[in-house]
Amino acid sequence: MERTGVWIVGARGDVAVTAMVGARAIARGLAAPVALVTELPELKALELPAIDDLVFAGCDVRTDSLVDRAWQLHREHHLLEAATIQHVAGDLAEIDGSIAGAEAGAITAGNLAMRPLRAIVEEVRAALRAFRERSGVSRVVVVNLASTEPPLADHDAHDSLDAFDLALEADVREAVSASVLYAYAALDVGCAYVNFTPSRGARLAALHELALARRVPYCGNDGKTGETLVKTALAPMFRCRNLHVLSWVGYNMLGNSDGRVLADPTARASKVESKGKVLREALGYEPHATVGIEYVPSVGDWKLAWDFIHFEGFLGTRMSLQFTWQGCDSALAAPLVLDLIRLGDLAMRRGEIGYLGHTACFFKDPIGVAEQNLAVQFQRLVDYASNA
Ligand SMILES: NC(=O)c1ccc[n+]([C@@H]2O[C@H](COP(=O)([O-])OP(=O)(O)OC[C@H]3O[C@@H](n4cnc5c(N)ncnc54)[C@H](O)[C@@H]3O)[C@@H](O)[C@H]2O)c1
Repeated sequence: MERTGVWIVGARGDVAVTAMVGARAIARGLAAPVALVTELPELKALELPAIDDLVFAGCDVRTDSLVDRAWQLHREHHLLEAATIQHVAGDLAEIDGSIAGAEAGAITAGNLAMRPLRAIVEEVRAALRAFRERSGVSRVVVVNLASTEPPLADHDAHDSLDAFDLALEADVREAVSASVLYAYAALDVGCAYVNFTPSRGARLAALHELALARRVPYCGNDGKTGETLVKTALAPMFRCRNLHVLSWVGYNMLGNSDGRVLADPTARASKVESKGKVLREALGYEPHATVGIEYVPSVGDWKLAWDFIHFEGFLGTRMSLQFTWQGCDSALAAPLVLDLIRLGDLAMRRGEIGYLGHTACFFKDPIGVAEQNLAVQFQRLVDYASNA
């Protein structure tokens, strides 16, 4: 029986824990696969791996157990039912043993600042190879679910694989971030790579070259789960009616640890950047637009977005639309992570290489695809399934 390995960077984080609890709950028949896009009838033709056949592992810089993290989500964020956690606690304890810490593959800030870059990459590669051999899985999909990093400035070393390799040898630290090194290691040992975060990950010409050379697929960046999801569904409506959007102002309030990280203006800049491109592409012009992100601890994982859209109609008549969206961040993200793992595994089986354009509907800032209209992006996925 073929099984698929899943190696999660940031395996002890909220989204990762929710995805693993959800996968084990579905596998044990405790939950229906509601909110998995890959369960839609339109995608039934795809021969995706069963959720039961996913074998989880990964790395994290924090050390508390997955079961403790699941109970924390239950207590603090009112997510995950007690009975579900009790049923999958044994599965989580087993996965715990396959999550590397700072000593065996997780890249800490200290490592990144001090250790030779080649040695760091070699440790991640070794952890991935060891997982593949130990678990006997046929293929491994690496998923980045780690905390958002500050934006990584463009560097000449990003332009080609040769230049990047030279930068690694010479320890040019300003050319890399942890997400880039994880992506490099993953692609280099022949894994598919999914970047669910706004961090750079594989989005460098050098790593595209590496993916083609190792004949593996990748996709990203930044899962589309809340305000941006609604935006990419609504903006095309204004365009279809030729209503001119004057301003689109959005405020997001987050209270989970992702929100705490995004309270730091440098990390927030990555998120604002990936959210910001959307309107320009979806409308065909750039209205006055701002995106605010505030850390509000009391809302926990229940992200709140409030958007105000000011638009102009016939004879200059000005009107407005406002919406609020309150969603549970991790519950929105986790099923998409499982979808992307399944699609990444299928792409590997089919020998697809480079970026996976048909996954654009999952991302705020899809690699290799300018299209931002959600319906058009989704149709691309349906077409991919129809041509299966
Ligand atoms: N709806 C959503 O929740 C959503 C949507 C889009 C993108 N994302 C992105 O997904 C990521 C995860 O979100 P979350 O809510 O689970 O965050 P989280 O803070 O709960 O989890 C992040 C995990 O990454 C770990 N980590 C940090 N640096 C690491 C490193 N160098 N190596 C390994 N592990 C590391 C942390 O210890 C933590 O356990 C974030 O980057 C977030 O922006 C989330």
